[in-house]
Formats: sequence, structure tokens, C-alpha cells
Amino acid sequence: SRKRQVDETLSSFRLSQEQLKLVKARMRAGLEAGLKTKGPSAIKMLPSFVYHTPDGTEHGKYLALDLGGTNFRAMLVNFKKGLQQNARLYHKIYTIPLEIMQGTGEELFDHLAQCVSDFLDYMGMKNARLPAGFTFSFPCEQTAIDTGTLVSWTKGFKATDCEGHDVVSMLREAIKRRNEFDLDIAAVVNDTVGTMMSCAYEDPQCEIGMIAGTGTNVCYMEEVKNIEKAVQKKGKTEEDKGTPDEEQDKADAEMLKMCINTEWGGLGDDGSLDDIITPYDTEVDQNSVNPGKQRFEKLTSGMYLGEVVRQVLLDLTRGGLLFRGHVTETLKTPGIFQTKYLSQIESDRLALLQIRSILQQLGLNSNCDDSIIVKEVCGAVSRRAAQLCGAGMAAVVDKIRENRGLDHLNITVGVDGALYKLHPRFSGVLKETVKIMAPQCNVTFLPSEEGSGKGAALITAVARKKQEM
Ligand code: BG6
Ligand code: GLC
Repeated sequence: SRKRQVDETLSSFRLSQEQLKLVKARMRAGLEAGLKTKGPSAIKMLPSFVYHTPDGTEHGKYLALDLGGTNFRAMLVNFKKGLQQNARLYHKIYTIPLEIMQGTGEELFDHLAQCVSDFLDYMGMKNARLPAGFTFSFPCEQTAIDTGTLVSWTKGFKATDCEGHDVVSMLREAIKRRNEFDLDIAAVVNDTVGTMMSCAYEDPQCEIGMIAGTGTNVCYMEEVKNIEKAVQKKGKTEEDKGTPDEEQDKADAEMLKMCINTEWGGLGDDGSLDDIITPYDTEVDQNSVNPGKQRFEKLTSGMYLGEVVRQVLLDLTRGGLLFRGHVTETLKTPGIFQTKYLSQIESDRLALLQIRSILQQLGLNSNCDDSIIVKEVCGAVSRRAAQLCGAGMAAVVDKIRENRGLDHLNITVGVDGALYKLHPRFSGVLKETVKIMAPQCNVTFLPSEEGSGKGAALITAVARKKQEM
């Protein structure tokens, strides 16, 4: 029957407990491998040079720039001393046109400088030379808090001449080319790190940051002694040599932990997820701008879930099981199912008639049975995504628990992204999976209120305070 055939197709998205345990184990192995110095690894485990979550003494006015989600955001954050949780925020959102995302690096950074210029005009602060934090939500190899070399673009970006270059220098140069205002860029921060910091400002138990949006990623506070790369570098620095022991001891004690940007979206790039990857996923990967890369991300994040759904619908239609077997041009169009549509289709408050009207808006003529099947397909794909993220998170929290030699760990995850915030089921399945896969941990998810910008501003505040001392 039609139902049985659809069921069979969707069965490849169903993951057993055993499979999820395997994913957890592979994530754990990937985290460990990435912390070692030797060779490149699927999970990059990038040091962030952020040693602390905020302590509430941060104060002053900071600019935060945020590139890497759906939009570019510029914001001004004002922290009042002693008034925790009372940061004032002004912000403006700018879209990044596709031709800029995929043009030259110079064009991209000139565009950012132009947005900043517009924002400073809007705020009437052109002459202020504010300290700025730059949230740059792509993998960066850092050697200090204010330098970051782009390892490789992810998500839809592919501007030329950026990979292998320091993104802070590129932004500074674009500002210099404009020759119109000045900025003191004090920190470059991944969005996961910014999100963790902004949530930790409210909840000191927050030592993990997660994004489930256009892309997917996690950062967490790791013990410096476990970060082989960082430990080695530290021994080599010139300044260390002249410092008296006592001061050095104090400095060391303050730097026992460092936030690591895992870039967990790369899990599977070495083939370790091949047993759960379906032909639909392979198709999506092959059609992307970075085939073979970010395999975990392509199973779990907003930019790709709609594409996986579309591939399944195409297959079902070709098999005569859907849309009366008519493969329309619309169905062949990449990107039609954005996260917001998936979220709407899966919402239980919607009647089937409303699903049909959404499909109609997308140019797909459906009958009642079609709309039921489409909803099932969306459900199977998003459930798998949430379970995979849950298994991954279980690996992270268990690692932290073992680091501390605890039987039981209470911890908070600061989280952001449209998939987490807008999808009706994703967050529920994620939490349920973490509970089952990491029974010794009690994990609280805290949605970030103002995005990662506030976190970047907090990091900037600390960086500039250090300099004053
Ligand atoms: C925002 C952060 O709030 O969330 C961004 O400030 C981040 O840096 C984003 O990338 C993720 O959301 P999405 O869903 O737009 O990718
Ligand atoms: C991609 C990026 C990563 C970012 C994530 C969420 O995975 O590589 O740096 O944190 O998307 O935006």
C-alpha cells in the first residue's frame, strides 16, 4: 500500500538507541582527537582564548558586530556597573545579499564596513572609536582573542580570498579603505562562544553554548591541561620567561579552563557517519557548495533540513506516491523549504487544510493525503536532526562530568538559532534525547535573549579591562 511504501522510505531516518549510542561515542572520540596536536581532525576543537564566563563587573559601551546567521547585525551594548542583567542594547539588522556572500572577500568586508558606518550614523557615534567585538560564526584558528584565521567557509558563504586570512585584519583594512571612522576591534568570537557568554551573564552554571540554526555547533569550557595544542603554545611564549613565579602562578590559576569552539558540524567528514547517511543526504551534500564537508551539520541544521525533505518528496513523487506523480519545477527548486515553513508544517495547531495552503504558497498542489505525507516526511527529518544533536550533546556533557570526576553533573547550555527557537518539536526531542543518552547529567537549556552580540561585547569588556591593568 501507499502508506507502507512511504513508511519504508522514512525508515532510513529512524535511529535506534544503539545507533544513537554509536553517534555519541563517535562524537566523544572526535572531541578527544581534536584536542590533540597531531594532524587535522574532522572536529576542529578550536581554542577561543576565552578563559572565564562573565563575573558581572563588566561595564562600559561596546559595539558588537555579528556575521554568520541569517543576517548581519550591528549593536551597541551598554553595561552598567553593578547592575547585572541590565545591559542596554540598540541594534540594527542588515541582510547580506547572495552576490556578496559569494563574491570577493574585499567586497564582503567593504559591505560590512558600510553597514557599520550606517549603524554609527544611526546612533550618532561616528567619532567615538568604540571598542568592538566581532562575532564571526565560522571556524577560525585563533592564537589570541583578537586574531582569527578563517579555516574554511561553511553554510552558504564562499567569498574568495578569505580562507587562510585573519578576518580581524580584513575588517580593519576595509574600515581603513573607507577612511571615515575608526574602530578598536578587541575580540573575534564564534557565535556559540558569544551565546554561552551572554547566557552565563544570567546563569553562572552555563558553561556550554549551542547554535541550532542555519548551521549547528557547540562550544564548552574545557580544562586547559586537556588542550594539548594550547598547553604546548603556552610554554613557548617569550613574555612568560621574565615573569616572577608568584605572578605566573596567579596567572596560571586564572587560566585553568578555556572555551573550545568544537565545530562539531564536521563530525563524519572522515566517513564516521556513513552508516546512518541516507541517499537523500548524499544528494544534499553533493549539491552543496562544500561537498564532503560538514556532514553532521548537513543532517542537523536549518540550512539543509528543507533540502533533505525536498529530496525525499522528489523521490516519493517520482515513485508515484505523492502529488499524483507530477514532478513540478517548484519541487526541483533548491531552497524552497526554509526552516520557517518546516516549522509551520509540523505545528500541531495547523489543520491539514492549512498545510495544503502553505504548500500552495510554495507552488505545490496537494490533496489531503499529500499533506499528511509531507508532514510525516518533515517530522522524520527534523526528529532525526534533534536526536543527533542530543546524542552529540550527551557526549559533551559526559566529557565535562568526567573532567570533574563527578557522578552527577548539573549544567546549563546557552542556546540560540531559528531551529531551536521556532521549530515546534526540535527542542523537545533534543532535551529528551540528552536525558536518555546522558542519564548522569541534568542539563538545562537556556535560550539566549539577544543573540551572541551581547556575549561578544562581554568578551570585549574583559579584553579591554585586561589591557588597562
Ligand atoms: C543569533 C546569533 O542570535 O543566532 C548569531 O547572534 C547566530 O551569531 C544566530 O549565528 C543563529 O541563528 P540562525 O538561525 O539565524 O542561524
Ligand atoms: C557553522 C559554523 C560554526 C557556527 C555554526 C552555527 O557550523 O562553521 O562556526 O558556529 O555554523 O552558526
